[in-house]
Amino acid sequence: MTPPTKAPDRYAVIGYPVKHSFSPFIHGMFAKQTKQNLTYRLQEIAPENLETEVIQFFVDHGKGLNVTIPHKQAVLSLCKYRTPRAEVAGAVNTIAVQENGELMGDNTDGAGLITDLTINLQVILPNARILLLGAGGAARGVIGPLLEHAPGLLHIANRDPKKAEVLAKEFAALGDVSASGFDALEGEPFDLVINATAASLQGSVPPIAPQFIGPQTLCYDMAYGKEDTAFVRWAKEHGAGRAELGWGMLVEQAAEAFYLWRGVRPDTAPVLQAVRSPTPVIGTNTK
Ligand code: ATR
Repeated sequence: MTPPTKAPDRYAVIGYPVKHSFSPFIHGMFAKQTKQNLTYRLQEIAPENLETEVIQFFVDHGKGLNVTIPHKQAVLSLCKYRTPRAEVAGAVNTIAVQENGELMGDNTDGAGLITDLTINLQVILPNARILLLGAGGAARGVIGPLLEHAPGLLHIANRDPKKAEVLAKEFAALGDVSASGFDALEGEPFDLVINATAASLQGSVPPIAPQFIGPQTLCYDMAYGKEDTAFVRWAKEHGAGRAELGWGMLVEQAAEAFYLWRGVRPDTAPVLQAVRSPTPVIGTNTK
């Protein structure tokens, strides 16, 4: 008699809207590559149903969730345990059920960005001069992980300078962080400029002067799409040494979540190559 086959473990990404998410494709490739027996689906949840549906998912023996727009902050309080990096980011993008049935909230976005920068793009972060554009949830999530790598400086510039100042104060204990509006930037070109604003989703570019980028600068957009975003186009037109979309961050944050759930690290290179091929939308790592 053949033994009964075990039902696949269930995972999903929750968001509102969520139908354009690449996560099922990415995790499907990871599962195939590492021979993990799991399913990974999209689950659209309206904000008013968030708590009920998340609880139901785990009551129904779901194993883990990824969390995207607009639920990343709201799910914090549903997780009894939270990793230090989720606490620092003030947001959760990955939930894993624990053996005692309680939920653990993690945030793999910052780690995803760091892996893409340091491994895939070979950026040297220690002593680098970094300009972070934006002071919303996306920016907040990457400040701690960037400071851990001891950059020479991290300057946060935002349309509303007060929001940038609040963030800089909050993270001051972790490293050299300063803040301003876009028009008050000073000094030499930066080594790394990260766009964490929502401007790419509106087809616009944060208004920074081109003098702050040069041949030594990597301009990195946390947004991704089939075509270059307005920020990446602007960077190329104004002489940035390199300009990159956020595909690598997307795939690497997913790999980190997969590792948390399954204890196996997938090879991200073939998945990154696959998502970069024909993909008809602009998405964002910012949510
Ligand atoms: P997210 O979670 O994506 O970070 P958010 O918290 O709403 O979303 O933050 C959006 C960020 O993009 C903010 O820094 C916002 O600037 P303000 O704080 O001044 O509002 C920034 N942003 C949005 N649209 C922008 C635009 N067209 N140009 C420059 N910055 C923009």
